Amino acid sequence: MAEHRLVVNGTTVTVAAPGLRSVAEVLREDLGLTAAKVACGRGECGACTVLVGGEPRMACSTPAILVRDEIETSEGLAEESERLRRSFADRGAFQCGFCTPGQIVHAIALLRRGISDPGRIRHELSGNLCRCTGYQAIVDCVVEAGS
Ligand code: FES
Ligand code: FES
Repeated sequence: MAEHRLVVNGTTVTVAAPGLRSVAEVLREDLGLTAAKVACGRGECGACTVLVGGEPRMACSTPAILVRDEIETSEGLAEESERLRRSFADRGAFQCGFCTPGQIVHAIALLRRGISDPGRIRHELSGNLCRCTGYQAIVDCVVEAGS
């Protein structure tokens, strides 16, 4: 059986050749990593955001077969995102929570780059849609986590 090698959260894993399947499908169905949510399934909402080579990517519309760099998911970023996640909880920056893993993963990429300006954070996160919170609390949390 043809196989494909990926590096996920620091570990090299071998999965069945994914064909045209997306990173989100491979993570969720083959590896049991379900934090990246699939909402729109077509690259429009950001719920499925993971980091590929440190850059935010829509896992639902990224073919797994094309990925060579490390994939980081919300599960693998649990320790690094602890302060940010606590801030989300304290400030009520989520309601249904469906968008939250994608927001957190994307925010980690911003924090690594030292981005702290609220306007810039709002702009950078504009591809991560949230139908519940109105965004201000999310931006506040990222600012707080980076301070
Ligand atoms: S589920 Fe991937 S962008 Fe919406
Ligand atoms: S918390 Fe519900 S979509 Fe963001």
